[in-house]
Amino acid sequence: MSEHHYRVAIVGATGVVGREALKILEDRGHPTHQIVAMGSDRSSGTPIPYADGEISVTRAVPDAFVDVEIALFCADSTTARELAPAAAAQGVTVIDNSSAFRMGAGIPLVIPEVNGRGVDFSRSGQIIANPNCSTIIMLVALGPIHRAFGLKQVVVSTYQAVSGAGRSGIVALRGETASVAAGHRPAPSHFPEPCAMNVFTHESDLDPHSGLNGEELKMIHESRKILGDSQLRILPTCVRVPVERVHSQSITARLHRHATPEAIESVLGESSAIDLWPRNGPRHPTPLVAAGTDRVSVGRVRVESTDQGCDVSLWVCGDQLRKGAALNAIQVADLVWSRRLSGSDASLARFAPQTKQV
Ligand SMILES: NC(=O)c1ccc[n+]([C@@H]2O[C@H](COP(=O)([O-])OP(=O)(O)OC[C@H]3O[C@@H](n4cnc5c(N)ncnc54)[C@H](OP(=O)(O)O)[C@@H]3O)[C@@H](O)[C@H]2O)c1
Repeated sequence: MSEHHYRVAIVGATGVVGREALKILEDRGHPTHQIVAMGSDRSSGTPIPYADGEISVTRAVPDAFVDVEIALFCADSTTARELAPAAAAQGVTVIDNSSAFRMGAGIPLVIPEVNGRGVDFSRSGQIIANPNCSTIIMLVALGPIHRAFGLKQVVVSTYQAVSGAGRSGIVALRGETASVAAGHRPAPSHFPEPCAMNVFTHESDLDPHSGLNGEELKMIHESRKILGDSQLRILPTCVRVPVERVHSQSITARLHRHATPEAIESVLGESSAIDLWPRNGPRHPTPLVAAGTDRVSVGRVRVESTDQGCDVSLWVCGDQLRKGAALNAIQVADLVWSRRLSGSDASLARFAPQTKQV
């Protein structure tokens, strides 16, 4: 057993998250023979380029998990519900990117830098949930601030990339953009609204009682579970924008303790998961700059203190296919593996310096 080279299955290897996971493993030198790429009937037999060769996609069925140590599920919730328990029953550690298990009692919901330390990864055959991409990106930015100053309330507006809806979101944006460039009126091809030249509220179902859409509800419930604060007020508005990759967020958080911009920047600067942009610099984070990067870009730090409290505002861009999905899942896999190898948090220590209270 070497540090990272566990036998890993990627379920949904042909999707945008699965392909990103393969890219990360390839960049880290994960050996081809230690990877099993799985998909549905549709993609069974499809060759995926990997390292100097290729990996052939096999059909995801319960028997396909023999000898697999860790399975990264990068498919939809239905597939996860059908296959993850069967894989776990064979002793496979499942890290699931879908929403199938996130709010389940006893299911760890993990962002290594935010709550990785408190999680028990010792059980074999465990199902671990990767949080929603918008939740991960927001909490990477807010985690250090929460530890140092305490979060009382969060108001967040998202500017979400179309690839958050998978491969088909990218196809839709490229196709609609080409059509508009050819002189046609914007018309929807995948989302309920045109995605080219347009901004629209997130397409997930609206809850008629709260008026919140599914993405907003995930940000609320998952953040509370991860931070262990069931009372935390979170007021999200989730929106799609005509961007291919990287979710951006405008966040304003009310804090329990007063802070200065310098103190906020100091705690943000200590996180290895954050690229802190100078607040008075000539440029600020953009999706194009953050695309393909591992860290969440945080800029435009502003603090306003009044008698009512202290509010910090941030502008955040994070690659939702990497830290918002594939990279976070692989970091969780690293934690599982390093604890299994040595009983220590060696992997976590590399990712997450402790933020001290200031
Ligand atoms: N996209 C994001 O930014 C993002 C971020 C965080 C979490 N997620 C979550 O990650 C998961 C994957 O999303 P995605 O964006 O990568 O979607 P995607 O591009 O549409 O890919 C979906 C993948 O699931 C596979 N699949 C579908 N049915 C299957 C089955 N019955 N058995 C095995 N594989 C099956 C597909 O394989 P075929 O090619 O065979 O159809 C494909 O590889 C979803 O649960 C999503 O909610 C996505």
